Amino acid sequence: MALLIKGGEIVTAESRFRGDVFVEGETITRVGAGLDAPPGTEVLDASGKLVFPGFIDPHVHIYLPFMATFAKDTHQTGSIAALIGGTTTFIEMCCPSRYDDALEGYELWKSKAEGHSACDYTFHMSVTKYEDNTEGQLREIVRDGIASFKIFLAYKNFFGVDDGEMYQTLALAKKLGVIVTAHCENAELVSRLQASLLAQGKSGPEWHEPSRPESVEAEGTGRFTTFVENTGAAGYVVHLSCGPALAAATAAKARGVRISIESVLPHFLLDKTYAERPGVEGMKHVMSPPLRDKRNHGILWNALAAGAIDTVGTDHCPFDTEQKRLGEAAFTQIPNGIPGIEDRVNLLYTCGVVRGKLDLNRFVEVASTKAAKLFGLFPRKGTIAVGSDGDLVIYDTAYRGVVSAKTQSMNNDYNGFEGMPIEGRPAVVTVRGQVQVKDGKFVGDSKRGRLLRREPTHF
Ligand code: URP
Ligand code: ZN
Ligand code: ZN
Repeated sequence: MALLIKGGEIVTAESRFRGDVFVEGETITRVGAGLDAPPGTEVLDASGKLVFPGFIDPHVHIYLPFMATFAKDTHQTGSIAALIGGTTTFIEMCCPSRYDDALEGYELWKSKAEGHSACDYTFHMSVTKYEDNTEGQLREIVRDGIASFKIFLAYKNFFGVDDGEMYQTLALAKKLGVIVTAHCENAELVSRLQASLLAQGKSGPEWHEPSRPESVEAEGTGRFTTFVENTGAAGYVVHLSCGPALAAATAAKARGVRISIESVLPHFLLDKTYAERPGVEGMKHVMSPPLRDKRNHGILWNALAAGAIDTVGTDHCPFDTEQKRLGEAAFTQIPNGIPGIEDRVNLLYTCGVVRGKLDLNRFVEVASTKAAKLFGLFPRKGTIAVGSDGDLVIYDTAYRGVVSAKTQSMNNDYNGFEGMPIEGRPAVVTVRGQVQVKDGKFVGDSKRGRLLRREPTHF
């Protein structure tokens, strides 16, 4: 089966030109102007529209046992929501806790996804403890095609690692050429501040941010970069939320430490006043690191445009209203997370490109290409080129809509970005040459997604 996308404006991280894309089977075989197609080819008219490489979300949670409950999406609902929003590949955090066996956890996560995803996917493998058998298990997981680890400096006694375990993980990653992604907060300070606030009767969601202030994230970020520096590994700070943490990470970059920086959609668009809303409305906006003071928005947008921030993910992590109510008595019990896998591309395009904060090539770079390069997926993913997978988004810039839980495909009863206008959405989304989405509707094969096996690249 062949597919010809005709007459669109093709936009990659480096270029922008009017042309056609021809996909044979699963792979792009020609890119150019005035391409013809053999009989039987499916031809899609993209005139007046943009044609992007499929977008990559480098940070999502689909299957996630966490905070006494489970995140709501299945691989089926999460991947369909991703595709409707233009994301053709996601990287899921595989998160066994420190009470689980890592290899068994990895097999469990794989089994949850296999045959149930509509888009392609891979995993960052979490290292949540470091025992005698950890190195052997991680080597096996890397041999199976996983080229990135994840560590949490927060979530003490569950996902969190101590400094010794962080060192061991980074030292092994350096030997294996694997990049280590890290949630950077000081776990000890978080638990002390939480206890102190609760002791003062400060139990509502508005106290979540004060329990994990900017300095606590900056300390975690600085410490992580120091460990990366002293092991020679490659590190990636996930969901960076604020100016002081950015300063710590960019200072490390400036002295040559191999650090990349991710921020996530909520930190560009939402601020701590959302979590200060009364009752469960506030709880719906509790995530970690927390939504911050609004003055950070400009800092993050500028850093993104200037190249200091490398990627934009979502940290998609859906808990519904009833689950959020687990934290009614104490903010420390609110399941942390905000969904967003469906909305990232449209909101980044609208609030970034349309509002003049990001140029179009940089938009493609931060939402697709850079993640592909960092995580061993490029040039298979993240660009439109001969030999790349036929993952394409024909983008309708004339579309006008509003983000709403009423119309979303994510499996949740609220949307953290409710009511935000979008000026553009995917008209067509393909995965390896097959049309999966048309005009906001999933029309494809719900089992098309494959595990992307990757080679380490960070030697
Ligand atoms: O609040 C968040 N971010 N929930 C998901 C787990 C994590 O820290 O990424
Ligand atoms: Zn995290
Ligand atoms: Zn996360």
